[in-house]
Amino acid sequence: MYNSRIIGLGKYVPDNIITNDDLSKMMDTNDAWIQERTGIQERRWIKEGSGDTSAVMGAKAARIAIERAGLTKDDIDFIVFATLSPDYYFPGCGVQIQDILDMPTVGALDIRNQCSGFIYAVSVADQFIKTGMYNNILVIGAEYHSGGLDKSTRGRSVSVIFGDGAGAAVMTRTEDNTIGVLSSHLHSEGKHAEELVVEGPSIRHWVPEILEANNEEDTSYYPYMNGQFVFKHAVVRFSEAIVEGLTANNLQKEDIDMLIPHQANLRISQFIQKKFGLRDDQVFNNIQKYGNTTAASVIIALTEAWEEGKINDGDTVVLAAFGSGFTWGSVIMKW
Ligand code: UT7
Repeated sequence: MYNSRIIGLGKYVPDNIITNDDLSKMMDTNDAWIQERTGIQERRWIKEGSGDTSAVMGAKAARIAIERAGLTKDDIDFIVFATLSPDYYFPGCGVQIQDILDMPTVGALDIRNQCSGFIYAVSVADQFIKTGMYNNILVIGAEYHSGGLDKSTRGRSVSVIFGDGAGAAVMTRTEDNTIGVLSSHLHSEGKHAEELVVEGPSIRHWVPEILEANNEEDTSYYPYMNGQFVFKHAVVRFSEAIVEGLTANNLQKEDIDMLIPHQANLRISQFIQKKFGLRDDQVFNNIQKYGNTTAASVIIALTEAWEEGKINDGDTVVLAAFGSGFTWGSVIMKW
């Protein structure tokens, strides 16, 4: 059996910065509320006409990750793409990466696990590499939220949270079983699907039905979140997933060199930090700048932590996420 490890990281976020004050011009909200409840100061939203989409941003991040890995696009054997905001209803974004980057006709798999998408994607790539099926896998998380948000006061409890962006990692085979992905732990609880959901369009709510109803009160194509319910589950599941990963590897919380939590809400990260008794330098947060970028959040944060020199060879790195589904999980890596 081989191990898999990350050898290249890249990120791309749109230039267009939307501050909390900008939002207060669109809806009844304010900087104090947003910062107090979420920690978010600003987020990036794609500017209409810029050409950016989830796939396009993913490709930009991927180019950087491949270059930093010292590889070319022709070395990549497989693509795994995590997003909840694909360019098309179908096909998924993975095939677009193959085309945009002009890659050989490698396989492409799309992951639909929302905020946990990158954790699931890393786990899938890890299994393919461990079994020897592929050597180099491009793993991408990208989201284009801003086009699909209700930017009126009606949608304010959700719309102020989400941001756009993308991150990518190149995972490769290593024969050294002491480094790379040590374990991944994935969970779901589908009975809570409707607590954080975009209901339509779907087979339950097709577009003609929506158009025919011509009902401005129909919010089914905007994200809905039962915020406090999700928050309560998030803090419990985040903790469980981290403990599960540490236990599986005989590690203690003191062994964590860097925890990269999904950037859902700074208050959730702070709760987890306190619960595990971690120092500030053991937890990385950038939600203040980017908001919640769901499947892109963990990989953008991991990339940024690495770019800032906060992740070094031999470090124990813990990735953890919770989100819509509900789905949650963790990945434990030795860098
Ligand atoms: O990434 C996937 C996982 N997601 C999460 O983990 C998110 C979990 N949930 C949360 O982060 C929080 O629940 C939110 C940040 C979404 C909301 O914070 P909250 O403290 O749960 O607020 P709330 O929804 O209970 O609303 C409290 C009040 C309400 O007013 P009343 O009824 O008390 O008068 C809302 O109408 O705040 C009001 N409100 C706002 N006010 C100003 C809701 N959104 C806003 C807003 N600006 N944007």
